[in-house]
Amino acid sequence: MSGYGWMSDRKLPRPRAELAQFQPYRTQMLKADVRINANEWPEPNVAGRYITAEELNGVLLNRYPGRGDDLREILSARWGTKSDRLILGNGSNELLLQVFLVFGGHGRKTLLFHPTYSMHGRLTQLAGGTVVEEMVGLPYEVTKERALATMAKARPEIVVFTTPNNPTGGEIDADVILAVAERFPETLVLVDEAYSDFAGKSLVSRMDEFPNMVISKTFSKVLAAAGLRVGVLIVHPDLMGYFTAAALPYNVSTLTLAVAARIARDEESIAHRLELAKRERARVLEALRRVPAIEVFPSVTNFILFRLRNEKPPDVHARFLEQSVLIRDISIWPGCDGCLRASIGTPAENDRFIAALDTVFAAPAARR
Ligand SMILES: Cc1ncc(COP(=O)(O)O)c(C=O)c1O
Repeated sequence: MSGYGWMSDRKLPRPRAELAQFQPYRTQMLKADVRINANEWPEPNVAGRYITAEELNGVLLNRYPGRGDDLREILSARWGTKSDRLILGNGSNELLLQVFLVFGGHGRKTLLFHPTYSMHGRLTQLAGGTVVEEMVGLPYEVTKERALATMAKARPEIVVFTTPNNPTGGEIDADVILAVAERFPETLVLVDEAYSDFAGKSLVSRMDEFPNMVISKTFSKVLAAAGLRVGVLIVHPDLMGYFTAAALPYNVSTLTLAVAARIARDEESIAHRLELAKRERARVLEALRRVPAIEVFPSVTNFILFRLRNEKPPDVHARFLEQSVLIRDISIWPGCDGCLRASIGTPAENDRFIAALDTVFAAPAARR
């Protein structure tokens, strides 16, 4: 073996101490006919709907992308804000990381109310910061008293509110978030609105009053474009300079910008998806509520959380998979003991999920 081969005594560079044991974000790439594990939009959304072969010929790949002015105009009109308050990213995760890099980092704290989206904690750590975890548990009710008391105790540089929340599916009252933003003007209040279209509510209109509040949005849910990778951060002008100084130049590709502008303008499809999600969610919720072996949590989103009363989540997850239905086992997330999460699929996929319930939750002898 040459000198470049494997050598047991060879010294290697080491990462920062807190990242030495860091585990990768786990996704479940298992094969299944019905994939309702990642809160994506389930109907196929092909790129050719938005951009023709001829239009592709007008896209110059040799040049760096522009700033996405069209896209920012369309989105700011849609959300009732100004285009110069919008920062575009390669998925909202990239922008969330930017928040933690700029306002978190070494010696600084992020407060999270669990159970919540696991990336907020991971990105805080990646940026070198420390997570303060407040366990709200299930049902997920973040009250004003609790939020203010936890803030006073933790004194974080960043606090995150995900509303509607993943994985619990319910909302956090605007009053709670705004009371925190008001009482703690030196804390950055990050509001993750990945699922807010489903609830039909947003705090964007309140940003003028609370310059310490930033709001993240994504194309991965109601805009049916998780594969495109587009996220948006809405920032008050008083803080914008810190973000632009730290931004990676040209982070969103020319092709992405072109397609995203079309997607954002397609109000008819958005209205269709909201309607479908509402209708199908009601149907799936009703079917889940009839299963005695589980406790179901109400949802305003495109997914539903449920907790097993007795059984082990990996067993139940595997039984769904035997029916070729892939849901998400989130029982290892903090505060989610015994929990599984299912996204709302197409009507046909939801039929399959609902039909699988009988087999999955039948008495053991009747199962096969
Ligand atoms: C609350 C929340 N925020 C952000 C994201 C990630 O979005 P993106 O695909 O834009 O990175 C997700 C994805 O599931 C999410 O649940």
